[in-house]
Amino acid sequence: MFHAILIDKDESGYSARLAQLDDDALPEGDLTVEIEWSTMNYKDALALTGKSPVVRRFPMVPGIDFAGTVTQSGSDAFRPGDKVVYTGFGLGETQWGGYAQKMRVSSERTLKLPEGLDARQAMVIGTAGFTAMLSVLALERHGVKPGDGDILVTGASGGVGSFAVKLLAGRGYRVIAATGKASAGEYLMGLGAAEILDRAELSAPGKPLGRERWIGAIDAVGGHTLANICAGTKYGGVVAACGLAESMDFPASVAPFILRGVTLAGIDSGFCPMDLRVRAWQALAKEVDAGTFAQVASQIGLAEVLDRAPDLLAGKIQGRLIVKIQES
Ligand SMILES: NC(=O)c1ccc[n+]([C@@H]2O[C@H](COP(=O)([O-])OP(=O)(O)OC[C@H]3O[C@@H](n4cnc5c(N)ncnc54)[C@H](OP(=O)(O)O)[C@@H]3O)[C@@H](O)[C@H]2O)c1
Repeated sequence: MFHAILIDKDESGYSARLAQLDDDALPEGDLTVEIEWSTMNYKDALALTGKSPVVRRFPMVPGIDFAGTVTQSGSDAFRPGDKVVYTGFGLGETQWGGYAQKMRVSSERTLKLPEGLDARQAMVIGTAGFTAMLSVLALERHGVKPGDGDILVTGASGGVGSFAVKLLAGRGYRVIAATGKASAGEYLMGLGAAEILDRAELSAPGKPLGRERWIGAIDAVGGHTLANICAGTKYGGVVAACGLAESMDFPASVAPFILRGVTLAGIDSGFCPMDLRVRAWQALAKEVDAGTFAQVASQIGLAEVLDRAPDLLAGKIQGRLIVKIQES
């Protein structure tokens, strides 16, 4: 028997609870993993509260990422004792996820932890840090370099934003961190931001083109903010769109794209190919230092995810909430 969070939906409504499950309940898969750490991402909070239709099959064990140790393997590529990390591929949405003390998954979608990272550190990074790294790699793939100009990060005090600030600053970029939290300035400067911007400056409807302010941006919020970011991007700049904390809408004009050659780069961590995953995790293992793990993470037990989900949706969490799975 093992503990897991279970989401169900029936005539009595949508519910999420701590449950005890039998091994027989585990899904198909050639790897069995004892999960040590998971995290709480924006999507997890949506799933736990039922605020958005993140969960596509019921009953569902939520949790879009996890790290742990292989206990049984039917694959030549993995052995019991291997430390692994798993993110995306519908985890916690269409297939059982990381909020369980034990899980069975496909070896083809599982990564060995890169050298230098343990399971806890991997989940401090989690889907959020991984997405931030994919965004940084996208800016650079489209030609942005340190010294070209400022990079704007929105949702800066959240999970993706915190890592985006840290990774960009570490690579030598001058970072403008946009946040709605008056109290987050010191935290963001500590991560390497050079300037703090009140997010209210970006969230109202704006003009199709504005003053050219940044050469690149990593946007975790969408909506009018994303439209205003594009309107304020310098000629030839790149905007990585990775989130929708403000809105799924994109009320923009084509002006920045056809008059300033701005590139809008979409970021998807869920189904990105394995070779890019390996590259991103290796870079994360190299670039995230010990201080960052302490700076950005706070820790909760498995059952606590139920209480903390509304806080996360309300934007009240700073940095990353990681979940100690064996502590129910
Ligand atoms: N593309 C992908 O593969 C991928 C992967 C992971 C996450 N995401 C998405 O990225 C976004 C951020 O995820 P996360 O895990 O970092 O979430 P998070 O920790 O909750 O951070 C989101 C941050 O956005 C800001 N925010 C919240 N509500 C806002 C609003 N109404 N208007 C403007 N800003 C608002 C807040 O930062 P401030 O207080 O500092 O402004 C908040 O801390 C989510 O939309 C998530 O779904 C996408």
